Amino acid sequence: MPGLRAPSDYAQEPPRHPALIVNSKEPFNAEPRRSDLVSSYVTPVEFFYKRNHGPIPIVDDVDKYSVSITGLIGNPKELFMKDIWNLPKYTVTATLQCAGNRRTAMSRIRKVKGVGWDAAAIGNAVWSGAKLADVLELVGIPKCSHVAPSGGKHVEFVSIDKCKEENGGPYKASIPLSQATNPEADVLLAYEMNGETLNRDHGYPLRVIVPGVIGARSVKWLDSINIIAEECQGFFMQKDYKMFPPSVDWDNINWSTRRPQMDFPVQCAICSLDDVNMVKPGKITIKGYAVSGGGRGIERVDVSINGGKTWVEASKSQKPGIPYISDSENSDKWAWVLFEAEADIRQSTEIVAKAVDIAGNVQPENVEVIWNLRGILNTSWHRVHVRIGHSNL
Ligand code: MTE
Repeated sequence: MPGLRAPSDYAQEPPRHPALIVNSKEPFNAEPRRSDLVSSYVTPVEFFYKRNHGPIPIVDDVDKYSVSITGLIGNPKELFMKDIWNLPKYTVTATLQCAGNRRTAMSRIRKVKGVGWDAAAIGNAVWSGAKLADVLELVGIPKCSHVAPSGGKHVEFVSIDKCKEENGGPYKASIPLSQATNPEADVLLAYEMNGETLNRDHGYPLRVIVPGVIGARSVKWLDSINIIAEECQGFFMQKDYKMFPPSVDWDNINWSTRRPQMDFPVQCAICSLDDVNMVKPGKITIKGYAVSGGGRGIERVDVSINGGKTWVEASKSQKPGIPYISDSENSDKWAWVLFEAEADIRQSTEIVAKAVDIAGNVQPENVEVIWNLRGILNTSWHRVHVRIGHSNL
């Protein structure tokens, strides 16, 4: 395609921040240190996790770049960046979380397949762009449609990167038409992240942002949008990012028995502490993030300093100085909350955090009960250990 091209090797990767923890070099997959993650509500671009399945595409001439809208529509259209910029611009603060966040901890129970991630395959950014609902209206699909006039029920996003899982083909995914055409679902074709032009790692020049849904559906380097009858048949929808029960392993898996994962469940993690910490006896601050999928706010974050025997409620915030109340007009519906609790630590112990969302969903106590062969959606209570001794804090 003129404008955007996909290299087949890693010779022209963009520069990255040296403090990132690299989980895989080629393709590049990296996350920030936990402590860097919670130093601000909005994650700086350089500390935002990077999740790729192939070499990063290159834009030769942004004026020549276009996204085509095709499939089950009467009037296929090609939109250039100037056409997208001309649409009303929306800004949405949304947390993106990889379904594989906290996979490393799940793999300690039993081996799982996939890139290992600590608890920072997540970030909160301010995304700006056109609403997908406005873009689809340009091709004759009205807002809040469940079925397009020509019968389409899903919207597929196709990229241009070369992924080995797709036998060298591009990354792709789909969402239901009802979500794509609902302006309140805030699905964006984003060209800015934190007020700046998207960078190459995060999808320059244009990417999809599907708030409240696992990151895998927020396709980067968008090449085409297809209106289709059935959900996308690509690898990452049909042979990956599905959650299986603990009884299923590689010898008895039948991928077609499960739906592709969309919303992520309620999650939280302590980020001011590592898995094992040496601390001096006395007060410590326990800080982390909590988030739930589907736009469900966070009702509560409980923290325990005795392995879960007793709990205190942490304070929660999004913007400094404004107390967080889920569903209030001052809160960002699609974004995480940062939580904080003080504790007086006198002896070696296990510190635990668990969140509850506004639907009353709570994180499972143990990782064993949600173990799955791909190691996705590890939302078990987050546990860290403190030992009394010389402080490394
Ligand atoms: N889009 C393309 N084209 N290629 C990819 O490899 N990875 C997906 C999604 N979109 C991916 C993609 C996954 S699994 C995640 S979690 C998010 O992008 C990560 O977005 P980020 O790298 O901007 O954090």
